[in-house]
Amino acid sequence: MGSGSQQAHWDSVYAAKGETEVSWFQETPSPSLELLHLVARSSSAVIDIGGGESRLVDSLLAGGFENITVLDLSAKALAAARARLGDKGNKVKWIVGDVTEWRPSETYDVWHDRAAFHFLTDQNQQTAYIQRLQAALRPGGHAIFGTFALDGPEKCSGLPVTRYSAESLSVLLGADFVLIDSRHHEHSTPWQTVQRFQFSTFRRCA
Ligand SMILES: C[S@@+](CC[C@H](N)C(=O)[O-])C[C@H]1O[C@@H](n2cnc3c(N)ncnc32)[C@H](O)[C@@H]1O
Repeated sequence: MGSGSQQAHWDSVYAAKGETEVSWFQETPSPSLELLHLVARSSSAVIDIGGGESRLVDSLLAGGFENITVLDLSAKALAAARARLGDKGNKVKWIVGDVTEWRPSETYDVWHDRAAFHFLTDQNQQTAYIQRLQAALRPGGHAIFGTFALDGPEKCSGLPVTRYSAESLSVLLGADFVLIDSRHHEHSTPWQTVQRFQFSTFRRCA
């Protein structure tokens, strides 16, 4: 799928389904928050890649974070998240775009991605993503990835995914990124099925 058709896919998903009707919905994104709080302070510049309608941004704002960016392919998803936040949404930088084509104009202390990277099944797209990560994450900063685990689902939202262990992700990211934390997580969908995730944190070499 090209970038335009991917965007159309995700916009149609978010147009057709309410926030709590998608398999990836979380009332509170606890695994992400636990890992974020281990490496970030409220002054940290945090970017949520493929943030969609996630409530991570709500929790970060409630925790006093003041430098938050959310990037997603879907303008519909970001508009819905922004509307949910009301005036607080004005404190967030919202970027509509494909992460694999994005040209970062600033650097971040923390890069977070839950369930976006695993949709990149093509090696060129994965390489382009990692180039953006290298351009946007400051040396000494941290990248947190939540992806389907090796025994997780093979598809999501009708699209194929690449499944990872912390170790296979580490190999893909390369020697610049040191694995400092890895966890298994069982996500309960709104219809009570279980999806196995891995969450891992990497520190970018200074
Ligand atoms: C399964 S949803 C997860 C949303 C959110 N991270 C969460 O945890 O609720 C995947 C998200 O990744 C976004 N996405 C997929 N491919 C992308 C890309 N190449 N660039 C930016 N966003 C992308 C989709 O629009 C969608 O919002």
